[in-house]
Amino acid sequence: MSGAKELTKEILDRLDWAALGDIYFHEDGEAELRERRKAIVACGMALSELLLPQLRRGGGSLWVGAGLAELPVLLAESMRGDRQVVAVNLRGDECELLNAAIAAGAPDATLRYQAVDARQAAPGTTFDHLACISLFTDPETWPLLSDVAYGRIAPVQIDVEQFVAEREQARELAANLFARFSRPGLVTTTAEEVSWFLEQAEAVGATIEPSEELVEAAIVGDPVGFLTIR
Ligand SMILES: C[S@@+](CC[C@H](N)C(=O)[O-])C[C@H]1O[C@@H](n2cnc3c(N)ncnc32)[C@H](O)[C@@H]1O
Repeated sequence: MSGAKELTKEILDRLDWAALGDIYFHEDGEAELRERRKAIVACGMALSELLLPQLRRGGGSLWVGAGLAELPVLLAESMRGDRQVVAVNLRGDECELLNAAIAAGAPDATLRYQAVDARQAAPGTTFDHLACISLFTDPETWPLLSDVAYGRIAPVQIDVEQFVAEREQARELAANLFARFSRPGLVTTTAEEVSWFLEQAEAVGATIEPSEELVEAAIVGDPVGFLTIR
C-alpha cells in the first residue's frame, strides 16, 4: 500500500490547479498555487510526523477550514484507520475539486472534504483533536480580525463596531468547537489564533501545554503548533 506522501502526489497530479488556484488567489492563481506544490507535500508530511504520534487510537479529529494544505496530514491520519477524521470548510467548489482529485488519485481513500459549517458537522460527536489552521485569521470570514491579527491595519483605522461584531462571532465559533472537545485533547493551530483557544481553556480551568516545535503552513505560511489541553 502506498504511503500518505505517495498518495498525496497521485492526488496532486489529478488536481485541477487552475480552478483551485482561482479560488485561492486573486491573480495568477494556477501559477501561485503550483509554486507551492513542493511545500504542500513537505510541510504536510512534517506536520504529520509531529502530529500523528500525539493522537490516540479510537479518537476523532475535527479539521475546521481544511484545504489543500492539509491534504497530506488528513490522508495520513485517515489511513491509520483507527480514528474518525472530519474535514470541513465553507467553500463547496473547493471541496468538490479536492474530492474529485482524491477520487481519481486515491480511489481507496476514505477521506472527503465536507462543505459545511463546523458547527453543523458530525452532530453529537466529540473530538479529542481540533485542528484550525488559519481559520480565525480567514480574511473572507473575518476581514477585520484578519487585518488585526496580521498587523495590517493601524489602530486609528479600526471600525470598532465591526471589530466587536466579528470578535463575538469568532468567539462563538471557538466556544462551540471547545464544547465538543474532549479532554485531555490536542489543538493544532497557528500562533496568530492560539488565543481563541486559550480563552476557552482558561474559562474552564483547563491546563494548557504549548508545543516547542512549529511547522509552516504550506499555503498561508503561518506557523503551526500544538496545545495539549487537560
Ligand atoms: C484562510 S482559509 C485556510 C485554509 C487552510 N486551512 C490553509 O491553511 O491553507 C480559511 C478557511 O476557513 C473556512 N471557514 C471559515 N469559517 C468556517 C466555519 N465556521 N466552518 C468551517 N469552515 C470555516 C473557510 O471556508 C476557509 O476555507
